[in-house]
Amino acid sequence: MCGIVGYIGNRNAVPVLLQGLEKLEYRGYDSAGVAVFDEREKKICVCKKKGRVENLESALYDNPVKGRLGIGHTRWATHGVPSDINAHPHFSGSENVAVVHNGIIENYMEIKEILQSKGFEFISDTDTECVAQLVEYYYDQSGDFNDAVFKALEKVDGSYALGIICKDFPDRIIAAKKNGPLIVGLGQGENFIASDMPAILKYTRNTYILEDNEVAVITKDDVKIYNPDKEEVKKNVYVVDWSIEAAEKSGYDHFMLKEIFEQPKVVSDNLNRRFKPDGSGIQLDDIKLFREDLEKINKAYIVACGTAYYAGLVGKFLIEKLCRIPVNSDVASEFRYKDPLIDENTLVIVISQSGETADTLEAMRLAKRRGSRVLAVVNVVGSTIAREADDVIYTLAGPEIAVASTKAFSAQVVAMFLLSLHIALETDKMSLEEFDEIRREMLKLPSHINKILTQAPNIKRFMEKYIDSKNVFYIGRGLDYVVCREGSLKLKEIAYLHSEPYAAGELKHGPIALIEESTLVIGVATQQELFAKTMSNIKEVKARGAKVLMIAMQGNTETEKYADDYIYIPKTHPILTPLLANIPQQLFAYYMAVGLGNDVDKPRNLAKSVTVE
Ligand code: AGP
Repeated sequence: MCGIVGYIGNRNAVPVLLQGLEKLEYRGYDSAGVAVFDEREKKICVCKKKGRVENLESALYDNPVKGRLGIGHTRWATHGVPSDINAHPHFSGSENVAVVHNGIIENYMEIKEILQSKGFEFISDTDTECVAQLVEYYYDQSGDFNDAVFKALEKVDGSYALGIICKDFPDRIIAAKKNGPLIVGLGQGENFIASDMPAILKYTRNTYILEDNEVAVITKDDVKIYNPDKEEVKKNVYVVDWSIEAAEKSGYDHFMLKEIFEQPKVVSDNLNRRFKPDGSGIQLDDIKLFREDLEKINKAYIVACGTAYYAGLVGKFLIEKLCRIPVNSDVASEFRYKDPLIDENTLVIVISQSGETADTLEAMRLAKRRGSRVLAVVNVVGSTIAREADDVIYTLAGPEIAVASTKAFSAQVVAMFLLSLHIALETDKMSLEEFDEIRREMLKLPSHINKILTQAPNIKRFMEKYIDSKNVFYIGRGLDYVVCREGSLKLKEIAYLHSEPYAAGELKHGPIALIEESTLVIGVATQQELFAKTMSNIKEVKARGAKVLMIAMQGNTETEKYADDYIYIPKTHPILTPLLANIPQQLFAYYMAVGLGNDVDKPRNLAKSVTVE
């Protein structure tokens, strides 16, 4: 969603802010802007434009500004359409205060009306403008910038990550956070703020991760962090271990393609880290989920959003099958409002790449209030979900920049394999011999993925053949159906194609009416025991004129009789196929999006990390 970057130091802030904003583009946005303190004019200059950061750059080229203090923002519209006026930063009425904000101020109308009654004039439709005006309102009373920010924060409800500057205090940026990520980057004679690490990775790896309700006062040589009672808080420096290359495209046309091709490494990194070297089980490092903990648990609940939810559905299948523990599952936005049946005997597993998804975070907090034990499967180290969960399994996928999740999904699925195996071993539902059989198969996964990736040129050819499809159906059974759901989501997200995933056996109960001459049906049939059943559904759609692209397991040559095109995945243990069967789907969606001329890494209307409800 929105992105924030801020700078104070001796450099010209403008290029630092613009480069930072470019690094945040992946989060999804519709406008961008900067506010920079001009030392000669002794005023804050704001430049903001609807559209891409490039538009902002051209505007700054035409009207250059320079200064050593600045804040920048990429906006993803929530209140008010994307426009120059609604873009951030927002000024207070006298242009004394400028604010960038991620999140939603829920009581902004109330604040706006009160300030309007006192003569304040508003020019945008945003909720953010009320923060700038409110800070100014308190500043006018006391002349104390820090105090004005504290007072304003007492009045606002909702979620925020804020960067605030004041014309009369050009020695500082004030940052504040509640339910939205914000970090302070620590340099030598310069400091930064950012909503996400890539924005400042070029300058520093040393950071403070702000907690909810903390306020940071940042000068070029010092950072002080306060709690809401204005008491100073001492924090540990968190050193980011990403390489800069990890956040670059490294010669690939798109981040998404690069991330697809990183999957063998991501999977092997996870396996190397998680399998005990002597083959006797799984080491989940920080999580304390042993026999005595598991004895208290009588059910699990898996909660996540989007792709992470589909990884969770693989987990549900495996925990039920291997551990014989009943598992409920829900998307987080539903779970939050349904009064879920959970208690202290429920293990709630939340899954999130970003660790900041608002619905997942709130679902987790609800689970904690009900006394459930919360285990989070998270990619971004130090993110809010990771910090607040009882236990964390990090998915070790490195930074995922493309909005469409690929390698993070694979890492989440591997985490689900490992977690279910761990629970099955701890609860004696699986013998070491059975575990060893699966472990050996898992160790082959990176090389299997590499084999599938060599089929990319074929998949590109399928794209050329099916590029005119208007509706695409994904059908499969059991774990293959879960794979279909993820494949269909990916096609929607980046190719903007209507597609529906169906449990193959459900087709006859209605959706088959939609199948007509040349409708593309992607059939996933990797589960040997369900293969014949799925093939009978494939025959049904073929009989109605559909074109069929099949994903099946090597050796099932029956596929070739009925499919127009097919991709084989290497033979593996049946519980491991979702990881492999999904890779051709990722490539297919990718090539379709490229073929249709779409912005693959930054698809329309989408944000990488959905930090509002
Ligand atoms: C995946 O391709 C999507 N961009 C989206 O569904 C995503 O998985 C979802 O928003 C959850 O995000 P999270 O993993 O960061 O919580």
